[in-house]
Amino acid sequence: MKKLNLLLLFVLACFCVQAENGYDLWLRYLPVSNPVLLQQYKQQLVSPVVLGSSSTVSVIRTELASALKGLTGNAYTVSSSLTSTNTLIIGKADASKILSPLVTKEELKQLGEEGFILKAKPGKTIITGNTDVAVLYGLFHYLRLMQSNQPITNLNIISVPKLKLRMLNHWDNMNRTVERGYAGFSIWDWHRLPGFIDQRYIDYARANASIGINAVTLTNVNANALILTPAYLEKVKALADVFRPYGIKVFLTARFSAPIELARLKTADPLNEDVKAWWNNKANEIYSYIPDFGGFLVKANSEGQPGPQDYKRTHAEGANMLANAVAPHKGIVIWRAFVYAAENPVDRHKQAYDDFVPLDGKFNDNVMVQVKNGAIDFMPREPFHPLFGAMPKTPLMMEFQVTQEYLGQATNWVFLAPLFKEVLDADTYAKGKNSTVAKVIDGSLDNHALNGMTGVANIGTDINWCGHPMAQANWYALGRLAWNYNLSSDAIAEEWLRMTYSNDAAFVQSTKQIMLRSREIMVDYMNPIGLHHIMATGHHYGPGPWVSNLNRPEWNPVYYHKADSIGIGFNRTSTGSKAIEQYFPEVRKQWENIATCDEKYLLWFHHASWNHTMKSGRSLWNELCYKYNTGVDSVKWMQREWQKQQTKVDAQRFKEVSMLLNVQLEEAKWWRNACLLYFQTFSKQPIPSNYEQPDKTLDYYKSLRFPFAPGN
Ligand code: GCU
Repeated sequence: MKKLNLLLLFVLACFCVQAENGYDLWLRYLPVSNPVLLQQYKQQLVSPVVLGSSSTVSVIRTELASALKGLTGNAYTVSSSLTSTNTLIIGKADASKILSPLVTKEELKQLGEEGFILKAKPGKTIITGNTDVAVLYGLFHYLRLMQSNQPITNLNIISVPKLKLRMLNHWDNMNRTVERGYAGFSIWDWHRLPGFIDQRYIDYARANASIGINAVTLTNVNANALILTPAYLEKVKALADVFRPYGIKVFLTARFSAPIELARLKTADPLNEDVKAWWNNKANEIYSYIPDFGGFLVKANSEGQPGPQDYKRTHAEGANMLANAVAPHKGIVIWRAFVYAAENPVDRHKQAYDDFVPLDGKFNDNVMVQVKNGAIDFMPREPFHPLFGAMPKTPLMMEFQVTQEYLGQATNWVFLAPLFKEVLDADTYAKGKNSTVAKVIDGSLDNHALNGMTGVANIGTDINWCGHPMAQANWYALGRLAWNYNLSSDAIAEEWLRMTYSNDAAFVQSTKQIMLRSREIMVDYMNPIGLHHIMATGHHYGPGPWVSNLNRPEWNPVYYHKADSIGIGFNRTSTGSKAIEQYFPEVRKQWENIATCDEKYLLWFHHASWNHTMKSGRSLWNELCYKYNTGVDSVKWMQREWQKQQTKVDAQRFKEVSMLLNVQLEEAKWWRNACLLYFQTFSKQPIPSNYEQPDKTLDYYKSLRFPFAPGN
C-alpha cells in the first residue's frame, strides 16, 4: 500500500511539473490549480467580447482565446459584437459602447496613446484604451494577474507608460552571429526571409508586447551598410509587418560610411550635398517599404566606426544630417554617446562628457542621444553616467545591457533589475535634490517630448531564447521598468517567477531571494569595492586583471585598477583624473573624500592603500579577500536554496539551472583565486588562513585560453 501511494505521488509529481524547455517564456498559460480561484475567474470570464477589426484586434482575440483555454481549461467563444450579457468587454474606447460608470471620458484623456484602463466589479470587466495597441497592453496585464493568481473581481487600474520609446537593441550581425550574444545565433533568418515567417518572430513580438516593448533595432551598432540595400529592406519589411500588430516599430543601425560603400561616393561628409541627397533618398526608399519605420541608431567615431569626426564635423552635424533625412517621415535618430578615442590620453571616463556636453542644444528635435548607464562599459557596478543631468537641452535615452557581457554571460544567474534600478534611482542633483536619472530620461526634468530606454538584447536561437533559463527575467525586467521605473525589483522578480515557473508560495519566496541577491553576489566575486574592467581580453570571459599588452591603453585592465605596491584603484578625484568633477557638487561630495566615499565605489574613484581601514574595520586587502570569498560562499548558498526547489520546478529547467550553478561556482572561485593571487603580487600580504586558499598558481590562471568563448 505504502509503495502504491509512493508511486501515485511520483506519477502526480511528474504530471504537475512536466519538463519544459523555456520556449514559452512567461506566457505559459498553465491551468490555474487553485480551485477556488479558478471558480472566481470563471465567474468573471463567462462571456468575453473583443470589439474592433484591426490586425491588432485579431492578435488580441487569438491571445485571449489561447490564454483562457490554457488557464481555465474552457474553450471560450470570443464574440465580436457587444450584447448585454457580456461580462468581459475588451476594445478601444472610440465607441460609446465602452463608456460606462466604470470608464469615464476624463479617465480616457489621461491615457495618451498607449495607456490602458482595466476595471472590474463582480460580473463585469472592461479593458480599454485609446488605441488597439493600448488595449493589447491592457489584455496582457489582465492575463498577468491570472497567471500570477491575483484576484480579478475588483480592479481599478489605470496604467500609462512612463517612457515613450521602450526598446531592444539587437547586436545581430548579417551573418547571424550576435556580438556579445550568449544564446546562440541571431533569430533573424535573413536567408529565408521574406518568404518564410518563422513562428519565433510572432512569439518574440508577443513577448515584447506583453511587457510593453514597442521598438526594436534589428542590427548591430557596429553596422553593416548592406542592411540598407533593397535585398535586405524587403526582409526588414517582412519583419516590420509581423511586428506592427503588436505595436512594435523597427529601427536599423546606419553605417555612417554607407554612401561610400553602397554608392561609391567619395565622401560621407555630413555637410556634403551629395551625401545629404543620398541619405534623403535612402530614407525615402526605406519608408516606401516600411511606412512607420522608426529611424536610425548610430554608433559613430567609436571603436573604429566611421563618423562625422572623420571629416572634422561634430556628432551633432552627423546626427542632424540623418535626422533631416527621416524627419519628413516622422522618423528619429538615436545617436550613441559611447565614444572614446585611443589617441586621447584623457581618462576614458571623461571622454563622452567632454565630447557631448558642448553639443547640448545643437541637435535637431528628432534626435535623441543614447547614453550607457555608466561612463565605462556595462560593468557589474558603475556609478551613473555623468552625462545624465548634464545635457538639459537634449533628450537622453538610457542604454542598459541585458545581454550579460560583463555579468557572467550565459553561465551565471544574475537578475539585473537591481542594477537597472540602482541607476534609475540615482540622484544627479542636476536641478537640486531628487533630480533622479529616471527623471532625466523620462524628459520630465527638462521638458522633453522624446524619451526612452533601451536594452541590448540577450535573445538568440537557443530554445529558451536567452541561454541561461533565468536570463529571461532580464528581458522581462527591462520591459517592465521601461513601462514603469517605479516598480520594485522584488515585484518584478515575483511576477516573472510566478508566470515562468510556479505560483507555489514557498518556491516564489526562496527563488526570489536568490534573484534579488544575485547581482550583489556577482559584484563580490568579480568586481568588489569599485573594481572594474578587469576581465579577460576580447571575449571578456573570466578574469584578466594582469592584461597590459593591448594596443589601446584603455583596453587594458591595468589601466583601470592601477594596482601597485602602495595600493589599488583609479584616482578620479581632483588630485587624479578629475572625472569626479563631471558630477554635480552634491554627488561629488558623496565620493570625493576617501574617508567617507561609499565603499561600493571606493576603487572607482580612489587609489587606496592596501592598509586603508574600511568601514568593517578590516584593511583594504583583507576586505578584498573577504569580499571575494563571500561571493564564492554566496554562490554555494544559491545552490543550496535552488536544490530545495526540486519538487517545485519541472525537471528540465531544474537540472539546467543546477548544472549552471555548478559552473557558476567554479567561475566564482576562478575569479576569486585569479584576482587575489594577482593583486597579492602588489599587496605582498597573505590571504587570511580562514579562507579557502587558491589551489592553482597565478601562472596557471594567466595561461588559460578560451577560443570557444561566444559573442566576440
Ligand atoms: C562594448 C562591447 C562591444 C560593443 C561596444 C558598444 O565595448 O564589448 O562589443 O560594440 O560595447 O557598445 O558599442
